[in-house]
Formats: sequence, structure tokens, C-alpha cells
Amino acid sequence: MTHILAIDQGTTSSRAILFDTRLHPVATAQEEFPQHYPQAGWVEHDALDLWTTTASTARAVIEKAGLGTRDIAAIGITNQRETTLLWDRATGQPLHRAIVWQDRRTADICEALKQDGHEPMITARTGLLLDPYFSGTKVKWLLDHIPDARTRAERGELAFGTVDSWLIWNLTGGKRHVTDATNAARTMLFDIGRNCWDDELLALLDIPRALLPEVLDCAADFGTTRPDLFGREIPILGVAGDQQAASMGQACFQPGMLKSTYGTGCFALLNTGDQMVASSNRLLTTIMSRLDGRTTYGLEGSIFIAGAVVQWLRDGLQIIRHAAETQPLAEAADPTQDLVLVPAFTGLGAPYWRPESRGAIFGLTRNSGPAEFARAALESVGFQTRDLLEAMRADWPGGSEPDVLRVDGGMVASDWGMQFLSDILGAPVDRPTVTETTALGAAWLAGMRAGVCPDQEGFAESWQLERRFTPQMKAETRDAKYARWQRAVAATIAAT
Ligand code: G3P
Repeated sequence: MTHILAIDQGTTSSRAILFDTRLHPVATAQEEFPQHYPQAGWVEHDALDLWTTTASTARAVIEKAGLGTRDIAAIGITNQRETTLLWDRATGQPLHRAIVWQDRRTADICEALKQDGHEPMITARTGLLLDPYFSGTKVKWLLDHIPDARTRAERGELAFGTVDSWLIWNLTGGKRHVTDATNAARTMLFDIGRNCWDDELLALLDIPRALLPEVLDCAADFGTTRPDLFGREIPILGVAGDQQAASMGQACFQPGMLKSTYGTGCFALLNTGDQMVASSNRLLTTIMSRLDGRTTYGLEGSIFIAGAVVQWLRDGLQIIRHAAETQPLAEAADPTQDLVLVPAFTGLGAPYWRPESRGAIFGLTRNSGPAEFARAALESVGFQTRDLLEAMRADWPGGSEPDVLRVDGGMVASDWGMQFLSDILGAPVDRPTVTETTALGAAWLAGMRAGVCPDQEGFAESWQLERRFTPQMKAETRDAKYARWQRAVAATIAAT
């Protein structure tokens, strides 16, 4: 029992990562799966793809590491959040493709609920905004559109789950229909203050309670795997939504600690301890963890385009072949040009929440070329992060100032990008040695529960810094650059 298997089911791929009990990553397996876009603004995943790629990467990583299932003490699961599934309890068959968190099909439902004045109550109970991002209106849409679904749901024949629930259902051979508090907190059906499903919200969206999974702590007994899957029953002992898992993997356990994960988008989470801080700046209040029945809350800011801006340079503009090329290009950019890119390709997320906005670029000259575009792309990620931190500071002035940012995700490999981030924030940016923090968080939860990994304090002590970036930019340059960004965002919003 020397290893922990972390399953990280994400938006574009399923990954399985093996950690030893000192929480060092040992081997990784990854599989991408198709994205389905049936209409503009709709995004779906085949539920069976999510399951089969999870099962096959889990088996592959054990084989790759030259281990047997006897070596696995426990499984931890982390997952893309909010993505919504509905399945038949008797057959285990999905009733529809999963509706992905990015899917905007329920914008009209949200708008109607807003017009009827429901948003303040929803925000007070769930910490969320009335936006199609969350699961609640997606469940309603499924029940409204699949024949007989609501009647069958009332009879207890169907199950709803976020991706974690769906995977656990399959891993346990349909024995367990459970989720954890961090995933439940993203459904818009869960009262995060009382820590329970909310009957009034269920009634508002016409969702039968019989559909819902049981909500457990993040480190708990989520069941054991079907014996035929791995040749042995392995306990599932840890579950958290991916951004919350990343916070735990970054050991952001104390109030005031802040992490930011740079994947396709960027998600920043600030630990606010046992305080449920209500945002006046359109950030989300969410559950960061629930351990031993104790809930820790956080403020979350979500940006939709971060790493995706580098993909756009590569696949859209075709001015780079590999993401790593952005760094030398940015370094070579003309310092006298001030290109500002507002990457609102799919609208603007927090703190603006402008789904209708589209991207814009300002300050073009005849000399603007790939180098200036690459620099503007990397800088846009820094500017957007500063927007989130400004909102956090304004929302929680009484809390300890978020003065260090811990970063993870693919984009943090760019030293230039991290230096700019530190410069524009005017704050240190810490890059850890293990940047697989999402999987690490899930592995820690499971390993701790299994009794083979350190407790919270011991784990926090083992967190290792790889490099700290400190601000080098003059304050007046920082202020001038940020003011230029703010004007660019205002102009982008005004143009839509
Ligand atoms: O809220 C959505 C988030 O959980 C998705 O994360 O890493 O799968 O894009 P990721």
C-alpha cells in the first residue's frame, strides 16, 4: 500500500496520476476525448467517454509505473466542476450527453429568473450568480427536454450528478450515489451556509429531490471499486472539484492564502476561513473544503481565457508552433509599443461577467508583429489576474491581505509570464516544485483519509517552493500599464 491513485477528470482530457505516500508524482497517463458543439454556445461531453477514459487511464498508469493494484492504498478524485449528468439508476445508462460547464443554453432560463427577482436569494444561499455556468439550470433543461424525465425523476428512477458522482457510480458498480461538498457547492442547488440541498431552490427549478446524491466531506468513504475493474476493491477516500483540489494541493489552508491555476482559463481562489464573505464585485463565494464536518469558505474569480490565448496564437494566428515560443517572442517585443489584447473570445468572466463581449486589440502600429502579439497575450493573463485580486481586496478588506499568490497549471512554466504577473500585481508569485496541484490535492485527501499521508499541518510543511518571482517593475510603470488595460476593457465592453 505504497501509492495513491489520483483521477483528474478535466474538460479536455482524463488523467490518472500515481503518487507515492510522500506525495511525489510517480507516473501519469492521459487521454483526450471529443468535445461536442451541437449548436453555437452549446458544449457537450459523451458521458461514456468520461467514464471509459477515466477507467483506461487509471489502469494504464498503474501498469506504466510497474505496480500492481495491491500497491494502491486509495483513490482520490478531482473533476471539472458544474458539468451535469443524468442517468438511469436501473441500467446506469446516461439519458443525454453531459452538459459542460461552458455551455450557455440556459441563458434564457437565467434571464427569466433574474427578471423575476430571484438572483439575490440565489446568491445569498449558494454564493453563486444566476449564470448558465452552474448545474441547476442545466438539470432543469434536461428535465424539460427529455420525454418523461421529470416524472421518472419523481419516481426515483433517475440520478443527477456532477462528474465526480458519475465516476463514483461507475467505479462502485452503481452502489454509491454520492458527491462532496465542494462539487455540491457549484450546482446552485446547495445552501452553502447550512450545508444541505435547498428545497426552495429545487422547487424554483422544478427539480425533484430524489435525483440528488448524498453530500459527504472531501475526505470520506465514497465506496470501493468494483472488484473486476482493478482485480481488487480499492477504497475511494477523497473527492474535490478541481479548483478546490488545487487550493488544497497548494496547501492554501490558512485564511488569506491565495492560489491561481492557469489552464484553458484561470481560476483564483482566496481562503476566507470560516467566513462566508459575500462579494460586492461579482466574485463567487464557495466551499473550499469540508473536512471532519468543518467547512472552509473561499472567494473565487474565474477568467475564461488564459492558456487559451496561447492556443489562439498557435492555432488561430499561427504565429507560434509551440507554447514555449511565446517567451522568447515576448522578450524580443518592441518596448516602445503598447499593444493591449483583451481576450474576451467567449465573453468576459469575473469581475465583469459580460457574456456578449468579444475580444479586442488596442495600440496597433505598422511595426506590430508576432513578438508584440505574444507579449500582449501573456500580459493579458497578468492583467486579468490583477482584476480578480483587486475585486478580492475590495470584497474582504478586513481579512488578511492576499499578499502572495501561489500559481500552478501549464502556463506557469513561462518565467517571463510569471515575472510579469508579479510585476503587475506588485506582489510575490510563488511557483511550487509540484505543479500538478489539482491531482496532488485529491491524492492528499485520499492518502490522509487512508492514514498513509500526513495531516493538514504536515502536508503544509512539505509544500515546496521552486521559485519566487518578486516585483521588479517601477510603481509608475505598473500603474500606467494597468490603467491602459482598464481603459481597453471599458472600450471593449462599450463596443458590444
Ligand atoms: O469550473 C470549471 C472548472 O472546474 C474546469 O476546470 O481545468 O477542467 O478546465 P478545467
